[in-house]
Amino acid sequence: MNIAIIGSGYVGLVTGVCLAEIGHKVVCADVDEKKISKLKRGQIPIYEPGLEELLEKNLKNKRLSFTTSIKEATKKSTAIFIAVGTPSKKNGDADLTYVENVAQQVAAYMDDYKLVIEKSTVPAETGKRVARTIRMNLPPKYRKSNKKVLEFDVASNPEFLREGSAVEDFMNPDRVVVGVESKKAEEILREIYKPLKPHMVVTNIDSAELIKHASNSFLATKISFINSLSQVCDRLGADVLKVAEGMGLDKRIGRAFLNAGIGYGGSCFPKDVDAFVRISEKAGYPFDLLKEVRRINEEQKASFVKLVEDKLWIVKGKVVGVLGLAFKPDTDDMRSAPAIDIIEALQREGAKVKAYDPVAMANAGKILKKVTFCRDAYATAKGCDCLLVLTEWEEFYKLNLKKIRSAMRQPVLFDGRNVFHDKNLAALGFEYYGVGRGTIEK
Ligand code: UDX
Repeated sequence: MNIAIIGSGYVGLVTGVCLAEIGHKVVCADVDEKKISKLKRGQIPIYEPGLEELLEKNLKNKRLSFTTSIKEATKKSTAIFIAVGTPSKKNGDADLTYVENVAQQVAAYMDDYKLVIEKSTVPAETGKRVARTIRMNLPPKYRKSNKKVLEFDVASNPEFLREGSAVEDFMNPDRVVVGVESKKAEEILREIYKPLKPHMVVTNIDSAELIKHASNSFLATKISFINSLSQVCDRLGADVLKVAEGMGLDKRIGRAFLNAGIGYGGSCFPKDVDAFVRISEKAGYPFDLLKEVRRINEEQKASFVKLVEDKLWIVKGKVVGVLGLAFKPDTDDMRSAPAIDIIEALQREGAKVKAYDPVAMANAGKILKKVTFCRDAYATAKGCDCLLVLTEWEEFYKLNLKKIRSAMRQPVLFDGRNVFHDKNLAALGFEYYGVGRGTIEK
């Protein structure tokens, strides 16, 4: 099928490349000329395992192309995915300016049947607004007063891609959710995803939009639950890893997203929880549970900082080494990374911060000031008064801890992701603090 993706950011790009990979003819559009010319040369602007190879392959076999022209993308395609950004406004609402703008432009170039599909995470009822915007911006000959009729449909098809495993998630989805209002729209979406043989959940547009918000909010709730539990574990001398294992083996609960740590970050959870709180509020229901989820997430970072401050005693002038900056492993994304708040809080107290991240240092350098970036974990540990593990990158599990220990000035290790939970750190001469391991005397 001929498919257009408008917006070649994270979601748009992964979707476009993967749809080409499963056999469709895809054109991806974006207003950013630099980005498009890079993509045309087969270079991706983000770090995402496996994506660049698929991009190159599908550029070569000509199933994938890039353009800055929405007109070209619209004219060529039957299905048009809107995958532009929906940033948070100050009050937590999603800012839908870009979505409206794309809907207006697509409408203006429509000359035969199109299915316009929202891929961006949008509040319920956006589908109706997109349909109305399209109707009002169709070429003049198709407007209501004139006789000619142009058929189109709007659908919702939320994404559930995790950064770092987005290609894998796209190719092996747990489910594909489609919100449609016509049989034709449903058939087109079934056709698009047929090669993946997915479990399809077909519903109306409002429900599809809610599924996305509900899923992310629920996952964020799971994380805040386990993080609260980690606080109790620390106080009672229990081990959150064993508690999570014991809970997670119950199929009704599941072990996933029960990793206690320093709180969730990224481009989705913080923004989506905010947006869902606002959506519910506007609908007349104060979703207080989610407000608490958000508060616990902030508190988890603050309590980690407090622990470091307590144990260091005097923070001013101390050298703090940080391993891992990205909001999670396998990405260079620093958006809402807990590392930002934690580092800035310690800097405010006068700490000197050295840091290393396998891929996120370039992005971190745009946000964090006065941090000395190091070439690896050992260089970071050198001369440090303590070391903080803030992202659980695979390479950290394999570190030579003896070497780390001897490089440090004071061997204090704060493991914000419980990376070293199974190592005997005391025997190696470390003073070690994990999260929720019951080892912190209060
Ligand atoms: C998320 C959703 O998982 C995905 O379905 C959605 O479409 C986009 O948002 P992503 O933001 O890429 O994906 O990351 P995810 O793997 O969900 O992790 C989000 C944050 O939660 C990270 O900061 C991670 O470190 C944290 N997390 C995750 C925990 O602290 N504990 C866990 O057990 C799991």
